[in-house]
Amino acid sequence: MASSGKFVIKGSANSRNLTGEVKVSGAKNDALPAFASALLFKDELNLSNVPAISDIDAMAKLLSGLGATVESEGGESGRPALPAGRWKVVLGKKISSTLDPEIAKRFRGSITLLGPVLARTHEVVFPHPGGCVIGERPIDIFLKGFEALGATVTEHDNRYHLKAPEGLHGAEFFFKYQSVTATETLMMAAVLAKGKTVLKNAAMEPEVIALGEFLIQAGAKITGLGSNTIEIVGGELLSGQNLVREIIPDRIEAGSFVILGALAGKNVAVKNLNANHLQSLTNTLTEMGVQLEIKPDQITILGRAEKLKPVNLRTHEYPGFPTDLQAPMAVLLTQASGRSTIFETIFEGRLGYLETLKMMGAQAWIHDPHQATVEGPTPLSGQEVVSPDLRAGLAYILAGIVANGQTIVHNVHYVERGYEKIEEKLAGLGVQIVKEG
Ligand code: EPU
Repeated sequence: MASSGKFVIKGSANSRNLTGEVKVSGAKNDALPAFASALLFKDELNLSNVPAISDIDAMAKLLSGLGATVESEGGESGRPALPAGRWKVVLGKKISSTLDPEIAKRFRGSITLLGPVLARTHEVVFPHPGGCVIGERPIDIFLKGFEALGATVTEHDNRYHLKAPEGLHGAEFFFKYQSVTATETLMMAAVLAKGKTVLKNAAMEPEVIALGEFLIQAGAKITGLGSNTIEIVGGELLSGQNLVREIIPDRIEAGSFVILGALAGKNVAVKNLNANHLQSLTNTLTEMGVQLEIKPDQITILGRAEKLKPVNLRTHEYPGFPTDLQAPMAVLLTQASGRSTIFETIFEGRLGYLETLKMMGAQAWIHDPHQATVEGPTPLSGQEVVSPDLRAGLAYILAGIVANGQTIVHNVHYVERGYEKIEEKLAGLGVQIVKEG
């Protein structure tokens, strides 16, 4: 079977013997727009708690390609290395407007650069961004948003060319869907656009708030963060001297470990998280019969009822149930007693992983691209599987942990795009997992 790295997991079929503590890393989806915001600064941008994952390396390469000096733990010749998780980005005098197509295509988060590059250089050239195979992932909202701010859009040679020779100007823009990265990149563009921008039906995710709050600290005029209407009065470059932007805890990684604790553990403490960001998950788990102790920065899974209750899961924009936890959660639903339903409202290609869980013994039916039913409890058995994307890959790992026998998960480069030191962290809880190849 073709593979770029694989995890070999020895399952321990429902013995629920995982225990201990695990520390959550900084959030990929906060760190990516944080790096992109470097274009808004006249001097420097300092970041801390950045996760060591491949999407961040790709983002750093894109920024270097644009003319930035990017320093990290590895240091730069002649300079002392920064501590782990610390990065420093300084833009050069000449800033390119062209994103390296090969790198940009690899991950969807590259799209957060569009607004800052366009606003700073009055132009941006980029390919259709890639990322996980979880649906169509169009970019129409981005293009319409930039047009509203005064850019013209053309498409040739497989690339989009956005231009605003006079610079961007403020405008009112209504998002047809609450898009996380479109809100982030347009908010950043508006920081340098002249005049007032009003973003309506904006995303309210914690990552949007964290981004906006730091920009305010650095001098941006932004109001309405955390609501669906964000107002920005722009026109001036920001200053990042003497400021360090701390990346917020990864709520998806945290939630995945909490689900793992509910699946296979007792007294599992998930640390360094923000429990406020995980209320939809903790409410659902409590409803199912999982006993949790919730502190502001730590969730401990104490145990669970012998029979877990099934639930009707419906993904939703924040603060609703995150689509990125839908696949890991489905693994837990295979162990609940009775029929659960899954309604994936955000993406239309995010239920395919259920076919693989079925191969492992799950009883599941996919009704259409958005809806499925899972019936449990069913024992799972180890299989050789191929990770199709980041979150489904993690779900296969969770399934492997509670399956009978050995599971091999191929294509772990997807998982490593978003989860820092995943096998080390799992092994720390008692999971028998090794990486090969
Ligand atoms: N949409 C459009 N047109 C657009 C943009 C989005 O129709 O121009 C639609 C999408 O197809 C989707 C909906 O709007 O149906 C919402 O998608 P959104 O734009 O919010 O997703 P995203 O910003 O591309 C971010 C995360 C995803 C996460 C989603 C939803 C980053 C880098 N990515 O994506 O994370 O699933 O928000 O919360 O922040 C992941 O980390 O594995 C991941 C996929």
